[in-house]
Amino acid sequence: MAKKLNPEWKIPEHVAIIMDGNGRWAKRRGLPRNMGHRQGGKTVELICEEAYKLGIKYITLYAFSTENWSRPEDEVTALMNLLRNYMKDCVKQAEKNKMRVKVIGDISRLDADLQESIRVLEKESEKNTGLRFQIALNYGGRDEILRAVKRLCKDVKEEKISEDDITAEVISSYLDTEGIPDPDLMIRTSGEQRISNFLLWQFAYTEFYFPDVLWPDFSKDDLIDAIEYYNTRERRYGGVTNV
Ligand code: FPP
Repeated sequence: MAKKLNPEWKIPEHVAIIMDGNGRWAKRRGLPRNMGHRQGGKTVELICEEAYKLGIKYITLYAFSTENWSRPEDEVTALMNLLRNYMKDCVKQAEKNKMRVKVIGDISRLDADLQESIRVLEKESEKNTGLRFQIALNYGGRDEILRAVKRLCKDVKEEKISEDDITAEVISSYLDTEGIPDPDLMIRTSGEQRISNFLLWQFAYTEFYFPDVLWPDFSKDDLIDAIEYYNTRERRYGGVTNV
């Protein structure tokens, strides 16, 4: 029987996902790794649709990290082609679901046509009021912080902001995720328990969930399990409760 949300559960507003296990999914079937990524792309579409229906407002997916360039060249090319096709198809999907898409990460290293597709997708979906979908592409948490610090230093030097006015909120506003609340829940599939340079600043008070399922197999029921797990957690933000 399909799982259902308990109406008493709190729904995490922002869910971040490390989509791990594509390679293992393919290997278990005797397929090339790229087939795992392709199937993983289908899961992305499914989860974006289901997440919004469940009441999640923001999804951030780790699609390609600053470290992923060190993978074999043919795998990097296949991933870039998959993302290239996805950005184009996603314009229609975003229109249908009213989804607003934003890419985070340093896109300047990507091929010019991919950068252009990203700009088109972001512009076309800008006014949509449904799911806010962030795709992390050539993204690294340290790289994001480094770029933010450099921009902040420049603004201090140019007297656009004074050093005394720098707060944690100001730093957040210099990050790629500006204007997006920090994730409430992070899911990493495939059983690995690392954050691999994802959203280092934003994960300060995020709950972590590590299901064994491989990303291409991740389903709506798995997402409901994650929400159930989230509801077993007591979020204290460094304080105490019930003492
Ligand atoms: C990790 O699995 C997965 C990636 C590095 C790529 C994730 C990308 C996609 C799912 C492509 C589609 C994305 C979008 C936004 C359309 P792995 O290859 O490290 O798996 P393994 O640990 O089993 O080898």
